[in-house]
Amino acid sequence: MRKILITGSNGQLARCIADAAVRFPQFAFTFLDKSELDITDAAAVGAYFRGNSYYACINTAAYTNVEKAESEPERAYAVNAEGVRNLAVNCAEYDVLLLHVSTDYVFDGRKKVSYVETDATNPLNVYGASKLKGEKYVTESGARHYIVRTSWLYSQYGHNFYNTIVKHASAGRDLTITTEQTGTPTNANDLAQALLQIVQDESADYGVYHFSNEGSATWYDFANAILDAHPQFKEVTLAKTSHYPTFAARPKNSVLETDKIKRPFKIAPLNWEESLRMLINSTYGKE
Ligand SMILES: NC(=O)c1ccc[n+]([C@@H]2O[C@H](COP(=O)([O-])OP(=O)(O)OC[C@H]3O[C@@H](n4cnc5c(N)ncnc54)[C@H](OP(=O)(O)O)[C@@H]3O)[C@@H](O)[C@H]2O)c1
Repeated sequence: MRKILITGSNGQLARCIADAAVRFPQFAFTFLDKSELDITDAAAVGAYFRGNSYYACINTAAYTNVEKAESEPERAYAVNAEGVRNLAVNCAEYDVLLLHVSTDYVFDGRKKVSYVETDATNPLNVYGASKLKGEKYVTESGARHYIVRTSWLYSQYGHNFYNTIVKHASAGRDLTITTEQTGTPTNANDLAQALLQIVQDESADYGVYHFSNEGSATWYDFANAILDAHPQFKEVTLAKTSHYPTFAARPKNSVLETDKIKRPFKIAPLNWEESLRMLINSTYGKE
Protein backbone atom coordinates (compact mmCIF):
# COMPACT_ATOMS: atom_id res chain seq x y z
CA MET A 1 0.00 0.00 0.00
CA ARG A 2 1.35 3.43 -0.94
CA LYS A 3 2.11 5.54 2.13
CA ILE A 4 1.43 9.27 1.99
CA LEU A 5 2.67 11.86 4.47
CA ILE A 6 0.62 15.05 5.02
CA THR A 7 2.43 17.90 6.80
CA GLY A 8 0.70 20.79 8.61
CA SER A 9 -2.23 18.56 9.53
CA ASN A 10 -4.10 21.12 11.64
CA GLY A 11 -4.55 23.45 8.68
CA GLN A 12 -7.72 23.75 6.60
CA LEU A 13 -6.36 22.03 3.49
CA ALA A 14 -4.92 19.12 5.48
CA ARG A 15 -8.26 18.66 7.24
CA CYS A 16 -10.01 18.57 3.85
CA ILE A 17 -7.46 15.98 2.67
CA ALA A 18 -8.32 13.90 5.76
CA ASP A 19 -12.00 14.01 4.69
CA ALA A 20 -11.15 13.18 1.05
CA ALA A 21 -8.90 10.31 2.14
CA VAL A 22 -11.89 7.97 2.56
CA ARG A 23 -12.29 8.04 -1.26
CA PHE A 24 -8.69 6.78 -1.67
CA PRO A 25 -8.59 3.51 0.30
CA GLN A 26 -5.56 2.39 -1.71
CA PHE A 27 -3.39 4.87 0.24
CA ALA A 28 -2.22 4.75 3.87
CA PHE A 29 -2.11 8.27 5.24
CA THR A 30 0.01 9.76 8.03
CA PHE A 31 -1.02 13.23 9.19
CA LEU A 32 1.55 15.20 11.20
CA ASP A 33 0.96 18.58 12.79
CA LYS A 34 3.60 21.18 13.68
CA SER A 35 4.24 19.66 17.11
CA GLU A 36 4.91 16.25 15.50
CA LEU A 37 6.96 17.48 12.53
CA ASP A 38 8.13 21.09 12.46
CA ILE A 39 9.28 21.53 8.87
CA THR A 40 11.66 24.34 9.91
CA ASP A 41 13.65 21.87 12.04
CA ALA A 42 16.11 20.49 9.47
CA ALA A 43 17.49 17.82 11.81
CA ALA A 44 14.04 16.58 12.78
CA VAL A 45 12.87 16.45 9.16
CA GLY A 46 16.02 14.56 8.14
CA ALA A 47 15.63 12.07 11.00
CA TYR A 48 11.95 11.55 10.20
CA PHE A 49 12.57 10.76 6.52
CA ARG A 50 15.49 8.51 7.43
CA GLY A 51 13.29 6.50 9.77
CA ASN A 52 10.14 6.29 7.63
CA SER A 53 9.46 5.33 4.08
CA TYR A 54 6.82 7.16 2.03
CA TYR A 55 5.63 7.09 -1.55
CA ALA A 56 4.54 10.74 -1.47
CA CYS A 57 4.55 13.81 0.76
CA ILE A 58 1.86 16.48 0.43
CA ASN A 59 3.13 19.65 2.03
CA THR A 60 0.27 21.79 3.29
CA ALA A 61 2.35 23.32 6.12
CA ALA A 62 2.77 27.03 5.59
CA TYR A 63 2.90 30.44 7.19
CA THR A 64 -0.34 31.83 5.72
CA ASN A 65 -0.96 35.11 7.55
CA VAL A 66 -0.43 37.52 4.64
CA GLU A 67 -0.79 40.66 6.79
CA LYS A 68 1.47 39.50 9.65
CA ALA A 69 4.16 38.30 7.24
CA GLU A 70 4.95 41.95 6.48
CA SER A 71 6.11 42.51 10.08
CA GLU A 72 7.72 39.11 10.67
CA PRO A 73 9.28 38.15 7.33
CA GLU A 74 11.86 35.88 8.97
CA ARG A 75 9.05 33.62 10.26
CA ALA A 76 7.36 33.54 6.86
CA TYR A 77 10.62 32.64 5.08
CA ALA A 78 11.56 30.08 7.75
CA VAL A 79 8.39 28.08 7.04
CA ASN A 80 7.53 28.88 3.41
CA ALA A 81 11.08 28.76 2.05
CA GLU A 82 13.59 27.03 4.39
CA GLY A 83 11.01 24.58 5.75
CA VAL A 84 10.03 23.64 2.21
CA ARG A 85 13.69 23.15 1.33
CA ASN A 86 14.05 20.73 4.27
CA LEU A 87 11.22 18.63 2.87
CA ALA A 88 12.40 18.87 -0.74
CA VAL A 89 15.99 17.75 -0.10
CA ASN A 90 14.74 14.75 1.87
CA CYS A 91 12.17 13.87 -0.80
CA ALA A 92 15.02 13.96 -3.32
CA GLU A 93 17.28 11.83 -1.13
CA TYR A 94 14.67 9.17 -0.32
CA ASP A 95 12.86 9.27 -3.69
CA VAL A 96 9.55 10.52 -2.30
CA LEU A 97 7.12 12.29 -4.68
CA LEU A 98 6.59 15.84 -3.35
CA LEU A 99 3.32 17.70 -3.85
CA HIS A 100 3.83 21.24 -2.71
CA VAL A 101 1.02 23.80 -2.50
CA SER A 102 1.77 27.36 -3.55
CA THR A 103 -0.15 30.53 -4.24
CA ASP A 104 -1.57 32.99 -6.77
CA TYR A 105 0.27 35.70 -4.78
CA VAL A 106 3.50 34.85 -6.64
CA PHE A 107 2.06 37.11 -9.38
CA ASP A 108 1.85 40.91 -9.36
CA GLY A 109 -1.67 41.10 -10.80
CA ARG A 110 -0.86 43.40 -13.69
CA LYS A 111 -1.99 40.87 -16.30
CA LYS A 112 -5.51 41.51 -17.57
CA VAL A 113 -6.39 37.86 -18.18
CA SER A 114 -5.79 34.65 -16.22
CA TYR A 115 -2.25 33.57 -15.31
CA VAL A 116 -0.69 30.50 -16.91
CA GLU A 117 2.05 28.49 -15.21
CA THR A 118 4.82 29.98 -17.36
CA ASP A 119 3.92 33.63 -16.71
CA ALA A 120 6.62 35.72 -15.04
CA THR A 121 6.33 35.87 -11.25
CA ASN A 122 6.73 39.11 -9.29
CA PRO A 123 5.26 38.89 -5.79
CA LEU A 124 4.01 42.11 -4.21
CA ASN A 125 4.20 41.01 -0.58
CA VAL A 126 6.40 39.03 1.83
CA TYR A 127 4.07 36.03 1.89
CA GLY A 128 4.16 35.73 -1.91
CA ALA A 129 7.92 36.21 -2.03
CA SER A 130 8.50 33.56 0.65
CA LYS A 131 6.22 31.09 -1.17
CA LEU A 132 8.06 31.77 -4.44
CA LYS A 133 11.37 31.00 -2.75
CA GLY A 134 9.86 27.73 -1.52
CA GLU A 135 8.86 26.88 -5.12
CA LYS A 136 12.43 27.56 -6.22
CA TYR A 137 13.85 25.20 -3.58
CA VAL A 138 11.46 22.46 -4.68
CA THR A 139 12.41 22.91 -8.35
CA GLU A 140 16.13 22.88 -7.58
CA SER A 141 15.98 19.93 -5.17
CA GLY A 142 15.91 17.19 -7.78
CA ALA A 143 12.85 15.64 -6.12
CA ARG A 144 10.02 14.32 -8.31
CA HIS A 145 7.53 17.08 -7.68
CA TYR A 146 4.31 18.85 -8.51
CA ILE A 147 3.97 22.44 -7.34
CA VAL A 148 0.25 23.22 -7.26
CA ARG A 149 -0.60 26.91 -7.06
CA THR A 150 -4.05 27.75 -5.81
CA SER A 151 -6.04 30.86 -4.86
CA TRP A 152 -8.42 32.23 -2.22
CA LEU A 153 -8.80 28.95 -0.33
CA TYR A 154 -11.79 28.50 1.92
CA SER A 155 -13.55 25.61 3.60
CA GLN A 156 -15.61 24.68 6.63
CA TYR A 157 -12.36 24.55 8.64
CA GLY A 158 -10.11 27.17 10.22
CA HIS A 159 -9.58 30.84 9.48
CA ASN A 160 -10.67 31.83 6.00
CA PHE A 161 -12.84 34.43 4.27
CA TYR A 162 -15.91 32.19 4.15
CA ASN A 163 -15.85 31.44 7.89
CA THR A 164 -15.16 35.11 8.69
CA ILE A 165 -18.18 36.30 6.68
CA VAL A 166 -20.41 33.65 8.25
CA LYS A 167 -19.19 34.61 11.73
CA HIS A 168 -19.86 38.34 11.25
CA ALA A 169 -23.19 37.78 9.53
CA SER A 170 -24.27 35.38 12.30
CA ALA A 171 -23.53 38.15 14.81
CA GLY A 172 -25.77 40.48 12.76
CA ARG A 173 -22.90 42.78 11.74
CA ASP A 174 -23.17 44.74 8.49
CA LEU A 175 -20.23 44.29 6.15
CA THR A 176 -18.09 46.45 3.86
CA ILE A 177 -16.00 44.43 1.43
CA THR A 178 -13.48 45.42 -1.22
CA THR A 179 -13.95 45.24 -4.97
CA GLU A 180 -10.26 46.00 -5.50
CA GLN A 181 -9.03 42.48 -6.28
CA THR A 182 -10.27 39.83 -8.66
CA GLY A 183 -9.44 36.16 -8.18
CA THR A 184 -11.10 32.78 -7.83
CA PRO A 185 -12.46 31.49 -4.54
CA THR A 186 -11.34 27.87 -4.27
CA ASN A 187 -13.01 25.28 -2.12
CA ALA A 188 -10.19 23.47 -0.24
CA ASN A 189 -12.24 20.26 -0.42
CA ASP A 190 -11.95 20.39 -4.23
CA LEU A 191 -8.21 21.05 -4.02
CA ALA A 192 -7.82 18.12 -1.59
CA GLN A 193 -9.55 15.80 -4.07
CA ALA A 194 -7.37 17.11 -6.92
CA LEU A 195 -4.14 16.57 -4.97
CA LEU A 196 -5.03 12.96 -4.23
CA GLN A 197 -5.94 12.38 -7.89
CA ILE A 198 -2.50 13.70 -8.82
CA VAL A 199 -0.79 11.25 -6.45
CA GLN A 200 -2.96 8.48 -7.82
CA ASP A 201 -2.15 9.20 -11.49
CA GLU A 202 1.33 10.77 -11.44
CA SER A 203 1.00 10.66 -15.22
CA ALA A 204 1.99 14.16 -16.26
CA ASP A 205 5.34 15.89 -16.41
CA TYR A 206 6.61 17.13 -13.08
CA GLY A 207 6.57 20.89 -12.53
CA VAL A 208 4.15 23.71 -11.81
CA TYR A 209 0.35 23.41 -12.17
CA HIS A 210 -2.54 25.73 -11.32
CA PHE A 211 -5.67 24.54 -9.55
CA SER A 212 -8.64 26.73 -8.62
CA ASN A 213 -12.36 26.60 -9.08
CA GLU A 214 -13.64 28.07 -12.37
CA GLY A 215 -14.69 31.65 -12.96
CA SER A 216 -13.69 34.82 -11.17
CA ALA A 217 -14.95 37.17 -8.48
CA THR A 218 -14.05 40.12 -6.32
CA TRP A 219 -14.01 39.68 -2.54
CA TYR A 220 -17.30 41.62 -2.59
CA ASP A 221 -18.81 39.11 -5.06
CA PHE A 222 -17.60 36.26 -2.87
CA ALA A 223 -19.15 37.80 0.27
CA ASN A 224 -22.37 38.49 -1.63
CA ALA A 225 -22.60 34.86 -2.77
CA ILE A 226 -22.01 33.62 0.79
CA LEU A 227 -24.77 35.84 2.18
CA ASP A 228 -27.14 34.98 -0.69
CA ALA A 229 -26.82 31.29 0.00
CA HIS A 230 -27.81 31.71 3.65
CA PRO A 231 -31.47 32.77 3.97
CA GLN A 232 -30.92 33.62 7.63
CA PHE A 233 -28.52 36.45 6.63
CA LYS A 234 -31.01 38.37 4.47
CA GLU A 235 -31.09 41.31 6.92
CA VAL A 236 -27.30 41.80 6.79
CA THR A 237 -26.24 44.81 4.71
CA LEU A 238 -23.28 44.38 2.39
CA ALA A 239 -21.50 47.51 1.12
CA LYS A 240 -18.72 47.84 -1.46
CA THR A 241 -15.46 49.69 -1.01
CA SER A 242 -12.90 50.28 -3.73
CA HIS A 243 -10.14 50.69 -1.16
CA TYR A 244 -9.60 48.63 1.97
CA PRO A 245 -6.28 49.57 3.63
CA THR A 246 -3.97 46.63 4.35
CA PHE A 247 -0.28 46.24 5.28
CA ALA A 248 0.37 43.80 2.47
CA ALA A 249 -0.09 44.82 -1.15
CA ARG A 250 -2.17 42.30 -3.10
CA PRO A 251 -2.41 41.56 -6.83
CA LYS A 252 -5.40 43.24 -8.48
CA ASN A 253 -5.91 40.21 -10.69
CA SER A 254 -4.81 36.75 -9.61
CA VAL A 255 -7.12 34.50 -11.60
CA LEU A 256 -5.28 31.28 -12.45
CA GLU A 257 -5.64 29.49 -15.77
CA THR A 258 -6.21 25.81 -14.96
CA ASP A 259 -6.16 24.20 -18.43
CA LYS A 260 -2.82 22.45 -17.89
CA ILE A 261 -3.94 20.36 -14.91
CA LYS A 262 -7.24 19.20 -16.38
CA ARG A 263 -6.42 16.57 -18.99
CA PRO A 264 -3.55 14.54 -17.52
CA PHE A 265 -5.20 14.13 -14.14
CA LYS A 266 -8.84 14.05 -15.32
CA ILE A 267 -9.58 17.02 -13.08
CA ALA A 268 -12.65 19.12 -13.90
CA PRO A 269 -12.85 22.03 -11.44
CA LEU A 270 -16.35 23.19 -10.53
CA ASN A 271 -17.45 26.76 -10.99
CA TRP A 272 -16.71 28.62 -7.74
CA GLU A 273 -20.36 29.50 -7.05
CA GLU A 274 -21.47 25.91 -7.56
CA SER A 275 -18.74 24.62 -5.25
CA LEU A 276 -19.61 27.23 -2.63
CA ARG A 277 -23.26 26.09 -2.71
CA MET A 278 -22.16 22.48 -2.30
CA LEU A 279 -20.13 23.39 0.76
CA ILE A 280 -22.99 25.39 2.29
CA ASN A 281 -25.51 22.62 1.60
CA SER A 282 -23.27 20.04 3.20
CA THR A 283 -22.60 22.05 6.36
CA TYR A 284 -25.87 23.99 6.49
CA GLY A 285 -27.53 23.70 9.87
CA LYS A 286 -24.70 21.65 11.34
CA GLU A 287 -22.56 24.52 12.65
N1 LIG B 1 -5.50 30.15 2.57
C1 LIG B 1 -5.44 30.65 1.35
O1 LIG B 1 -6.23 31.52 0.96
C2 LIG B 1 -4.40 30.14 0.38
C3 LIG B 1 -4.37 30.68 -0.91
C4 LIG B 1 -3.41 30.20 -1.81
C5 LIG B 1 -2.51 29.23 -1.41
N2 LIG B 1 -2.56 28.75 -0.14
C6 LIG B 1 -1.59 27.71 0.26
O2 LIG B 1 -2.33 26.53 0.51
C7 LIG B 1 -1.64 25.75 1.51
C8 LIG B 1 -2.60 25.34 2.59
O3 LIG B 1 -3.07 26.53 3.22
P1 LIG B 1 -4.18 26.49 4.36
O4 LIG B 1 -5.18 27.51 4.01
O5 LIG B 1 -4.58 25.09 4.68
O6 LIG B 1 -3.31 27.09 5.56
P2 LIG B 1 -3.52 26.96 7.13
O7 LIG B 1 -4.94 26.63 7.44
O8 LIG B 1 -2.89 28.18 7.72
O9 LIG B 1 -2.66 25.67 7.48
C9 LIG B 1 -1.26 25.69 7.50
C10 LIG B 1 -0.83 24.76 8.62
O10 LIG B 1 0.61 24.71 8.62
C11 LIG B 1 1.01 24.70 9.96
N3 LIG B 1 2.40 25.11 10.12
C12 LIG B 1 2.90 26.37 10.24
N4 LIG B 1 4.22 26.32 10.43
C13 LIG B 1 4.58 25.01 10.42
C14 LIG B 1 5.80 24.33 10.58
N5 LIG B 1 6.94 24.99 10.81
N6 LIG B 1 5.80 22.98 10.51
C15 LIG B 1 4.67 22.29 10.32
N7 LIG B 1 3.44 22.88 10.18
C16 LIG B 1 3.41 24.23 10.22
C17 LIG B 1 0.06 25.65 10.66
O11 LIG B 1 0.09 25.46 12.04
P3 LIG B 1 -0.13 26.74 13.01
O12 LIG B 1 -1.46 27.35 12.59
O13 LIG B 1 -0.13 26.13 14.36
O14 LIG B 1 1.01 27.66 12.74
C18 LIG B 1 -1.26 25.25 10.01
O15 LIG B 1 -1.88 24.20 10.73
C19 LIG B 1 -0.45 26.60 1.94
O16 LIG B 1 0.68 26.21 1.24
C20 LIG B 1 -0.85 28.00 1.53
O17 LIG B 1 0.29 28.81 1.30
C21 LIG B 1 -3.48 29.17 0.75
